[in-house]
Amino acid sequence: MALRDIIRLDNPVLRKKAHRVTSFDSKFQQLVDDMVETLLDAPGVGLAAPQVAVSQRLIVVRLPDDEESREEYGDEAGKLFVVANPEIIKASKELVEGVEGCLSIPGYVGTVDRHEKVTVTGLDRRGKPLRVKAAGWLARVFQHEIDHLDGRLYIDIAKEVWEVKPEAADDAE
Ligand code: NI
Repeated sequence: MALRDIIRLDNPVLRKKAHRVTSFDSKFQQLVDDMVETLLDAPGVGLAAPQVAVSQRLIVVRLPDDEESREEYGDEAGKLFVVANPEIIKASKELVEGVEGCLSIPGYVGTVDRHEKVTVTGLDRRGKPLRVKAAGWLARVFQHEIDHLDGRLYIDIAKEVWEVKPEAADDAE
């Protein structure tokens, strides 16, 4: 495994529509492992392949598993989600406002409306179909990461964006 560089806002790869994953070969497995390592090292809660300059439809998501997170998220705390070709097939009408950041835009956070609940389908790292029902913070992270695959960033849809001290943006996506 190896850490990959997380690209920043000025890199045009972030703005491209990513390609569907069609091969689950060893190169893809390496990409998954590297993205997980990079996410945990950052640390962040979600990472999309375009953020490591790979224009493929792949995301990794992992909520923290400290005591507070376990109370709030139950079994979802610390659980790793690896989803290739993710699609939101169902989204609640209800929108919730929340504050999010992005590992590609360090030092900033913003207020974004997201669906309270989403159902995501896709393929796991072996190419097997999977389905995730997510609510709250997990649902927000999925929406943020899937947006990355279409070249969309939270700053495009945020009601407000502001600068923060680096340590305040720990939950970056
Ligand atoms: Ni992001």
